Amino acid sequence: MEIEQTLILVKPDGVQRGLIGEIISRYERKGLKLIGLKMLQFSRIKAEELYAIHKGQPFYDRLIEFMISAPIVAFVVEGANAIQLARIINGATDPIQSEPGSIRGDYSTNITRNLVHASDCPENAKYEIPILFSPEELC
Ligand code: CMP
Repeated sequence: MEIEQTLILVKPDGVQRGLIGEIISRYERKGLKLIGLKMLQFSRIKAEELYAIHKGQPFYDRLIEFMISAPIVAFVVEGANAIQLARIINGATDPIQSEPGSIRGDYSTNITRNLVHASDCPENAKYEIPILFSPEELC
């Protein structure tokens, strides 16, 4: 059993729709441990750093403009297989494929305004977490 940490973002649509508590509670209910939490508004530089892997994709500009448009909530969860579990809790990126019971499956119909982000592999979690959290901010 691999103990992992992963970065989760409640995107601007999740904050505006009042779903912060609902989203965080799904991770807590599953048994993942919240080890860092903050609300912030992305600078363009930080959003581009986080999504560097997607630079050049047709959706990239739309994604960056959306992510910097309003405040987000960022948190880090820790637990056995946390990275894969977080992606299951979020549901598929494409709203047609996100299953009922997942966050996106229950609350989202839009591939850009899809409420949440989670790191997709251990390498990306190690890259993404320090963009938003210093080691002192993680308990
Ligand atoms: P996220 O998990 O934050 O990672 C990249 C984001 O790009 C993704 O969620 C979507 O919000 C957004 N996106 C928009 N269009 C697409 C697409 N066609 N494929 C993948 N991601 C997309």
